[in-house]
Amino acid sequence: MLKFENLSLKYGSFLALDQVNLHADQGELVVLLGANGAGKSSMFLTASGIHKATAGSITWQGQELLGKKPSAIVQSGLVQCPEGRKLFAQMSVRKNLELGAYVHRSDPGPSQKTLEEVFTLFPILRDKQHDPAGSLSGGQQQMVAIGRAMMGRPKVLLLDEPSLGLAPLVIKQMFEVIQRINQAGTTVLLAEQNAYAALKIAHRAYVLESGRIVREGLPAELLADDFIRKAYIGA
Ligand SMILES: Nc1ncnc2c1ncn2[C@@H]1O[C@H](COP(=O)(O)OP(=O)(O)O)[C@@H](O)[C@H]1O
Ligand SMILES: [Mg+2]
Repeated sequence: MLKFENLSLKYGSFLALDQVNLHADQGELVVLLGANGAGKSSMFLTASGIHKATAGSITWQGQELLGKKPSAIVQSGLVQCPEGRKLFAQMSVRKNLELGAYVHRSDPGPSQKTLEEVFTLFPILRDKQHDPAGSLSGGQQQMVAIGRAMMGRPKVLLLDEPSLGLAPLVIKQMFEVIQRINQAGTTVLLAEQNAYAALKIAHRAYVLESGRIVREGLPAELLADDFIRKAYIGA
């Protein structure tokens, strides 16, 4: 289980996260909804060891993550697919994917098998593996970013706004793949602004506003919540 407990984070004097509590059980697909600036990426970057929390804890399989190096966190099975994809545009698709397996370089054997799994999830990436990542469409680049995270062999995958900037049909396909990744056994924590599509595939969800969790519940509960409908679904 991944557990954020009373997590607070400051940037200078600005309180970006205010005593956040959230958990994801093994095998769950948990959605974190929140508008721009709510603090979603801040939570993920803290869990990945990139930002330092001011208070609270993040535990994964009972072990404290705060204070660990980002590489050690990835090695322990918590892998982030960052907002904005962050690919190396000039490098080939395959090289970008292989970079995701860098933390496993002392045990490279299984990476070939993982690469095959990524190509099975995203067949188009097999065809385009020798093309520069920057030449792909936005949706295909997002596939590379997710594929690269999969190369880290995650037990928990943190997906930060994978639907950003993509067309509705592409988003639908992306969410189907995310659901498949989860069904194959990877726990998923998905940060999204696209509330409706995300709630459709979630087991549970949280709503973050100005660094605070303001709602949590089952997708059906949140979809029926007037406050959520008005603020996040526009219905
Ligand atoms: N490195 C940073 N330094 C200062 N403020 C930051 C930094 N990163 C994010 N913020 C601020 O923290 C708040 C939360 O940002 P962020 O976690 O990126 O939200 P979200 O991912 O939900 O859009 C915003 O007000 C943002 O401007
Ligand atoms: Mg963000």
